[in-house]
Amino acid sequence: MADTDVGAGYEVRDRVAIITLNAPPVNGLSQALRAGINDGLHRAHADDGVGAVVITGAGKMFCGGADINEFGSGEVTEPDVNNICAFMESMAKPVVAAIHGHALGGGMELALGCHFRIATKDAKIGFPEVTLGVLPGAGGTQRTPRLAGVAVALDLILSGRMIGAKDAQEYGLIDAVAQGDLLEDAIALALDATGRGEGLPTAKALPVKGADTAAETIAAALEKVLRRAPDAQAPKAIARCIEFAASGKDFEEGLKFERKEFLDLMNGTQSKALRHLFFAEKAAVKIPNLEKDLPLRQIERVGIIGAGTMGGGIAMNFLNAGMPVTLLEIAQDALDRGIEKIRSTYASNVEKGRITQAQMDTRMALLNGSTDYADMADRDLVIEAVFENMKIKQDVCATLGEVCKEGAIIATNTSTLDVDIIAEATGRPADVLGMHFFSPAHIMRLLEVVRGAKTAPDVLATVMQLARRINKVAVVSGVCYGFIGNRMLESYLREMDYLLMEGATPAQLDAALEGFGMAMGPCRMMDMAGIDVNAFVLDGREAEGALPDTPSYRALVRELGALGRNGQKAGKGYYKYDGRTPVEDPEVNRIAADLAAKFGIRRRNDITDAEICDRLLYPLINEGFKIMEEGIAYREGDIDVVWTAGYGWPPLTGGPMHLAETIGLAKLRDRLVELGKQTQDRFEFFTPAPLLSRRADEETSNPTEKSNA
Ligand code: COA
Repeated sequence: MADTDVGAGYEVRDRVAIITLNAPPVNGLSQALRAGINDGLHRAHADDGVGAVVITGAGKMFCGGADINEFGSGEVTEPDVNNICAFMESMAKPVVAAIHGHALGGGMELALGCHFRIATKDAKIGFPEVTLGVLPGAGGTQRTPRLAGVAVALDLILSGRMIGAKDAQEYGLIDAVAQGDLLEDAIALALDATGRGEGLPTAKALPVKGADTAAETIAAALEKVLRRAPDAQAPKAIARCIEFAASGKDFEEGLKFERKEFLDLMNGTQSKALRHLFFAEKAAVKIPNLEKDLPLRQIERVGIIGAGTMGGGIAMNFLNAGMPVTLLEIAQDALDRGIEKIRSTYASNVEKGRITQAQMDTRMALLNGSTDYADMADRDLVIEAVFENMKIKQDVCATLGEVCKEGAIIATNTSTLDVDIIAEATGRPADVLGMHFFSPAHIMRLLEVVRGAKTAPDVLATVMQLARRINKVAVVSGVCYGFIGNRMLESYLREMDYLLMEGATPAQLDAALEGFGMAMGPCRMMDMAGIDVNAFVLDGREAEGALPDTPSYRALVRELGALGRNGQKAGKGYYKYDGRTPVEDPEVNRIAADLAAKFGIRRRNDITDAEICDRLLYPLINEGFKIMEEGIAYREGDIDVVWTAGYGWPPLTGGPMHLAETIGLAKLRDRLVELGKQTQDRFEFFTPAPLLSRRADEETSNPTEKSNA
């Protein structure tokens, strides 16, 4: 009978001790579990009735790695995986890791400390630490280059990607793929190795493969990674550790070197930010106060209204997940074009080796076109992705309300319009919510799920679960203009236009924001998204009386739109385009200067990158506090997920709300006040949100709490 009171089960079968990692849901290597494994190994070592050991995992995987919750403590408690591996390597009894599901991070490091590794065919291994801003801190950077070579170690540890058992075997990271039952095969392997005594293989005894060319291999791999994220600290530390391993120095020294690098990263702000995002993404799918065990609606067949770029992109998400889709357009030629676009996107993916021809065929076979709303009658979910116009969306939704079967969910892909008004048009608002996809919809990870005032809880819960099935990171937003993301974007774009009218150039703005870490500066982003699209929304808002009462508000983007400078697709916008390459255009500066003269905006030549970042980012964060106060977002972490997954915000800062904590809320509030004074803030664009002010006051009156945050 397994003994599970220490987090690791222990039983003996055929003279083989079986230690079972048992810490649901992912067998994270918490202190308790490590202690259990350690006890089991010592027990097996001391027992003359035991000739070998197998370490295996209970539940769905071998081990998901270190328990990330423990990282916040700032230290590694005993027994750590290094001690455990050292003990295993010293044992005269063979130790076999039996891997199923996943062996990640510390879990894989534990396995690398075993004498042998065997895995199921579908097992996945990897070192995801870099995605959390750390490195494998229990020998991963030292044993992997010994078993698989410098190039493979760099590839896996710098990317954090997972590989299958076949590749892992090819690389020398596992010894065998189980042909039958994993545990039985592992026991057989262990028994076979019994009696080898001194001759048991250990990774640490091997020379590093590729050590002679390590310097060049490391430099090339690092350069590639840093091109994407020049400020990331973890990749540099990983390179230093692998370089140390390749230098031929003592293995134990390598472990010490690696541990120090690991602790420095773990206690740094980047890892804290990335860990925050890891947990924020997991938390975002959870809906507060939801009835336990609420039955969900069954979603298998999907309908999409509108075969434009958005509708087609949305359709591909479901096709990729193996779900049948009917795509509807009123006009046959528009439908044909939409279907052709999907086909050509898949064909290009096949060409690039991203999917196989068979996968493309399967996906295309799941796609149907229709010009008749009656074909929506058997759909479990219908998403409208028609033109962003309230009247059109209301008409479409009214029809859907009539034709969709009872229990079907009706979703609107609006990015700015009032979901409650659209929901009413269906006549069945409880079945309705917003599913705001981001363009290109088959690639962008974010899905904002907009809960209307009358959305039924099971509808919301069903769509959050569905999001996972189609590989989206989903965040719930309440109804307001622009929901979480586009509402916060508005203040960012507002300051962009004002700064350009004050004398900054698009290239200067983009360089400042890209220097901060945004994947793309605001002017390039607007040119990609389409200036006409934004100008159209602004016109609509003006007609509703929803814009601040000043003609200078977002005047530049509207002027560019009026001049037909609609962005990249028009060959000119904030930039002019040489193919897809943006080139500075003095004409834009002239247009901005004319507008400044028209509106009495003072031109300046002293605008710094720091001012640009503060002017664009601080009001955006301020809007985040308003969103929290109004209950539009459930949690600050949800806002961080929206921005990092949907808007190219640098994950190394943890998202806007996490960054606010890092900056300090009092400092953020005071800078907003200062910017307000500097800009003679007639419209209170810089007035700190009441929630921010309150929290800043709390922080000032209780500074220790902030430093522990
Ligand atoms: N430490 C602590 N908690 C972890 C964890 C870890 N290493 N890995 C997963 N969890 C938690 C998740 O937060 C989630 O908690 P919740 O149920 O409260 O939301 C739960 O375990 C299940 O995780 P989930 O990701 O939903 O399960 P999955 O089966 O889809 O995926 C993994 C499993 C292991 C592939 C995935 O969780 C993962 O990649 N984890 C991170 C692995 C990692 O980075 N390890 C190295 C640490 S240095």
